[in-house]
Amino acid sequence: MSTPPAPELAGRRLVLGLSGGIACYKAADLARELVKAGATVQVVMTEGALQFVTALTMQALSGRPVVASTWDLREPNAMAHINLSREADAIVVAPATADFIARVAQGRADDLLSLLCVARPVERCPLLLAPAMNREMWAHPATGRNVAQVRADGAVVLGPAAGDQACGETGDGRMLEPAEIRDALVAFFQPKLLAGRRVLVTAGPTFEAIDPVRGITNHSSGKMGFAVARAAAEAGADVTLVAGPVHLPTPPGVRRIDVASACQMHAAVLPEAPRHDVFVATAAVADWRPAHVNEHKVKKDGRRGAPLFELTENPDILAEVARLPAAERPWCVGFAAESEDLVRHSREKLQRKGVPLIVGNLGPATFGRDDNALVLVDAEGETELPRADKLTLARALVAEIARRLPDGVRA
Ligand code: CTP
Repeated sequence: MSTPPAPELAGRRLVLGLSGGIACYKAADLARELVKAGATVQVVMTEGALQFVTALTMQALSGRPVVASTWDLREPNAMAHINLSREADAIVVAPATADFIARVAQGRADDLLSLLCVARPVERCPLLLAPAMNREMWAHPATGRNVAQVRADGAVVLGPAAGDQACGETGDGRMLEPAEIRDALVAFFQPKLLAGRRVLVTAGPTFEAIDPVRGITNHSSGKMGFAVARAAAEAGADVTLVAGPVHLPTPPGVRRIDVASACQMHAAVLPEAPRHDVFVATAAVADWRPAHVNEHKVKKDGRRGAPLFELTENPDILAEVARLPAAERPWCVGFAAESEDLVRHSREKLQRKGVPLIVGNLGPATFGRDDNALVLVDAEGETELPRADKLTLARALVAEIARRLPDGVRA
């Protein structure tokens, strides 16, 4: 059994700021998510926010008294703006209204939350804003200018999303969901080991059609590959994910190309490969496909018995990428799913595929599960990554890849 992962925001001290918008009702849930993820959450509310949700609610969920006024005399030195911003690892304002963003853009300090933003040590205490407003307000040129200004001043803008709005309209400006904001914070705190790098990942099974309703596939869930894509994006990489048929959400910030068959995956990967610095092939690509796809469903036919299929070999995507000329070749990582003798088979695969790193795992013990154990096999020897949830393993793998990468980004 793997030990449960440490809460992802354990030890983080966050100021959660609420400005006055209807999305305040979601901030209550966000406070809960952040506390559950291990963070210490100090809620700061504007006058407007207090119209939408009570301080009582936010205090109960964060486990700390809410601060809402510059003139709050509970602080012994009466300097809440200094104390709160010096103690915080980050300030996250969710919802951040159009008015609040405008005030931050101007550096105003006429309420505690905006005062806090100006008073924070910019280098040490990042500011993250989750905008929430009507689509016309988001589209207004003044808002666009203010958002560009706060970004230029170093703030990180999370979202907004598009969709149904509280006013009944549909469009851009919806606040991200609490879990998305939590994940964005988790990602924000990850070390940026792959900043400036481009990473291409294949994931999932492939589906090799026999006829319009049947096909050959395997038990790969895609979870490991999606975790690698997410971990690489969290580490600051530009990530392209080529995914076989799986029902998994695209990790934030990742460009996804959906494919079904090995040939489609091959056709998607080959032109992308030269534009990437790293290629991580986690996909369980079918080795063979039916030589002929029947145009119509193959029918049971009592006289002939079970139909026979001729199979033909699929292209080996990883091996082909590994054979690209040096100037076009990303640094390649292969996966080996074995059922026994993991290290020997992985080392043999390292040579046969001509790649600098093979990640071995025992297929039957991992397919469809949320955890796994890996062994990294390369010229250095063997490195074990002990059983853990797939995201923890993916982050460890990303760190191992980053450590091995040659300096400099390929053109
Ligand atoms: N791979 C690939 N294209 C294929 C087959 C495999 O890109 N047509 C990649 C996988 O994504 C994985 C690695 O190659 O990273 C190992 O694949 P695997 O199927 O385990 O190895 P094989 O070479 O097929 O060897 P065997 O089936 O004999 O174990």
